[in-house]
Amino acid sequence: MTGIANNSQMLSGAAIPPLFAQLAAFLQKYRAYWQLPPMTCQQLPWHAALHDVLIRLNLAELAAIDQSPQLQQQYFGAFFPELASLPSFWLAAPAKTDMAAAPFWLTNGIHGRKLAQIQQFCQFTPVSHLPVLEWCAGKGHLGRLYAAASARQVTSVEWQPALCEEGQQLATRFQLPQQFVQADVFSAAAQKLVQPEQQVLALHACGQLHLRLLALATQAGTAALQLAPCCYHLIPDEHYQPISLQAQQTNLALSRQDLKLAVQGQVTGGERIARLRQTEVTWRLAYDELQQRVTGLRQYQPLPSLAKHWFSGTFADFISHAAALQQLQLPKPLDYTELLAAGAERYLLLQRIDAIRHLFRRPLELYLVLDRAMFLQEQGYQVQLFAFCDYSLTPRNLCLQAKKLHANN
Ligand SMILES: C[S@@+](CC[C@H](N)C(=O)[O-])C[C@H]1O[C@@H](n2cnc3c(N)ncnc32)[C@H](O)[C@@H]1O
Repeated sequence: MTGIANNSQMLSGAAIPPLFAQLAAFLQKYRAYWQLPPMTCQQLPWHAALHDVLIRLNLAELAAIDQSPQLQQQYFGAFFPELASLPSFWLAAPAKTDMAAAPFWLTNGIHGRKLAQIQQFCQFTPVSHLPVLEWCAGKGHLGRLYAAASARQVTSVEWQPALCEEGQQLATRFQLPQQFVQADVFSAAAQKLVQPEQQVLALHACGQLHLRLLALATQAGTAALQLAPCCYHLIPDEHYQPISLQAQQTNLALSRQDLKLAVQGQVTGGERIARLRQTEVTWRLAYDELQQRVTGLRQYQPLPSLAKHWFSGTFADFISHAAALQQLQLPKPLDYTELLAAGAERYLLLQRIDAIRHLFRRPLELYLVLDRAMFLQEQGYQVQLFAFCDYSLTPRNLCLQAKKLHANN
């Protein structure tokens, strides 16, 4: 394989393993700053100098810093000098000539952000004569638009029958060469779908789903792959099993909880979602404060995931429900105002801790994606990594593109 220069917007070839080594060393050196369960903390867990900076930041400032690599650098660069030398190609997509817009009847029913993501993902798909396999297709929006634009045969594999049915109806109605296969990608039937003479597209296939694709495609010697990974934490094991030889030699021992950091902090949710999230976390922390006082155990006891309506009702109802779930006898009367204030204080502490943890979120995601990239290189693929769309459109904007170097090897 030729070593291709690393330009500011794309990473490829020989530039990949050294960047991986740099990220692994960075994550290893500072693991005390990101590899911790922040909800359990009762105080800032780090040294006085960092404490002094964090303690001055309010929620609005913390939120602004969280969304801005420049502000992160400005506030915390002195504590983590290596941050400045990490690549920033993930922030923005390389320029591409716009494809002709798809006709409106084809894009009906695809919500705005998803449509833009699909269109930008397609822009980078190399022109080829190969049939296409769309992996974990959902309703196959990507496959449908791609089939319409390229007139190539697209097979869309998806597990949920209702999504397959809806996608197939649309393809049939518009007379597109797109065929759905309803299958679990972990089944032997799905394995047969992955072929050497093929181009596989996978947009936002979660953790184990895209790892399965990488295993099958490299086994089959599939000619071309284009993959935008997401949800790295959705794996069956408690701990992440690196797939490349180089990553297997690093020792980060990433738990599923650690992997969640790579996808934390969304830029796309909007203000209403952010407010709801703040309420949920504050109430959960307020309840935790209460349960610690009642049991006398200074130990965080997480509640299970709860229906959203619990966080748009009254705080008192939520507390009663949470206590019933954990069979906690509540003292009476309860000072809800004081409890809520305690929750808000813990929420602020959590945001301060996350301000530091989130400095490592992109390095961790890059570490994981480069593990996949190096695995593909080891299996004889030429690999490129770039942002297929701007970070503001979806934080899961990294795209791995791989081409088998020598067919039949
Ligand atoms: C995050 S969605 C992405 C869908 C689509 N590619 C997109 O970008 O809109 C992941 C999809 O994987 C499907 N899926 C989950 N587990 C699967 C499995 N075991 N086999 C096949 N598909 C699966 C889900 O039903 C879902 O449609």
